Amino acid sequence: MYKINDNYQKLPGSYLFSTIAKKVNAYSAANPDKKIIRLGIGDVTQPLAPAIIEAMHKAVDEMGAAETFRGYAPDLGYEFLRNAIVKNDYQARGCDIAADEIFVSDGAKSDSGNIQEIFAENNRIAVCDPVYPVYVDSNVMAGRTGTYDPKTEMWSDVIYMPCTMENNFVPEFPKETPDLIYLCLPNNPTGTTITKDQLQGWVDYANKAGAVIIYDAAYEAYISEENVAHSIYECEGAKTCAIELKSFSKNAGFTGVRLGYTVVPKELKCGEVSLNAMWARRHGTKFNGAPYIVQRAGEAVYSDAGKEQLKEQVAYYMKNAATIKDGLMKAGYMVFGGVNAPYIWLKTPDQMTSWEFFDYLLENANVVGTPGSGFGPSGEGYFRLTAFGSYENTLAALERIQKL
Ligand code: MLT
Repeated sequence: MYKINDNYQKLPGSYLFSTIAKKVNAYSAANPDKKIIRLGIGDVTQPLAPAIIEAMHKAVDEMGAAETFRGYAPDLGYEFLRNAIVKNDYQARGCDIAADEIFVSDGAKSDSGNIQEIFAENNRIAVCDPVYPVYVDSNVMAGRTGTYDPKTEMWSDVIYMPCTMENNFVPEFPKETPDLIYLCLPNNPTGTTITKDQLQGWVDYANKAGAVIIYDAAYEAYISEENVAHSIYECEGAKTCAIELKSFSKNAGFTGVRLGYTVVPKELKCGEVSLNAMWARRHGTKFNGAPYIVQRAGEAVYSDAGKEQLKEQVAYYMKNAATIKDGLMKAGYMVFGGVNAPYIWLKTPDQMTSWEFFDYLLENANVVGTPGSGFGPSGEGYFRLTAFGSYENTLAALERIQKL
């Protein structure tokens, strides 16, 4: 008789955004006349930039002609894309990353869930609390997190680093030494970030502890302050302790197109074993590459026209962030984030729990947000709104919230 991976049985409830979608659909079905504004999941709403569309059209035509047709992509991704990434995302920032340290994928969500596979089952993971749920859930599936306590909503073998307004949402070095440290900066869900000096502190800590930092830089394009690192490799010593995950979803609107990449430096070694070689083996075995058309679209992100158009797109969403932040502050809310990230993190009013506020907002303003407690126990009493809606919807949502 076959056996299942019992670790899946340990997962509490369904994936956060599936739970929210179910609740919103039920409300919508019961109240078909209500116009719901969705500022929950961080999904983009602006169309793909013209430079990207043009590149995709051209690539589609190439796929339709025998001379230019392409089959399987190279394991690590096409060189034209990896070279553009190296030049623009690393060399331009003084980071010494080579094209064979870049692994092109179908997005940072898959990579952030898959990367734990190359580490032993008995590694201890440390996560910020609140945290993007994929980091924890993928480690639960792998059997690395121990037992779940429904009362504390914590896993026995996970090291939690609370990020609350008391510590300005800056994670502190944990008392117990972790093996793998997940950092998402600028942060999802709190929309806050840390300075480059603070990040250097984490790199030094990891190198000393013999730990690996899994650094999710999905929101890097939204950084507006000077003293914030765009890549962890801007920090000295990061190549011996950090893996960086990057997404095209948020900076270029690829949530439905799907493209990302992971950087595994060749200097990152466990004894004599190269993690770059391990990830290359894993990638080659389990992944057949992002589509050619999509990789050409990715290349267009780095063209002059693409850069210009995407700067405008990021500015559009950040105008929404400022609108939400100012509007909530005027309405008397305590508000965080929204300066270097497209997320606004607010304290729920009147001691409401995160889910109570979710229901209150849905029923009274017909606005959907994300309950902070869905990201971890320290998110209780907080709530997230995304700046990825249209400007018109963002304004309308704020008007409704201000009237409550
Ligand atoms: C979020 O809303 O947290 C993100 O959209 C989820 C994701 O990027 O997968």
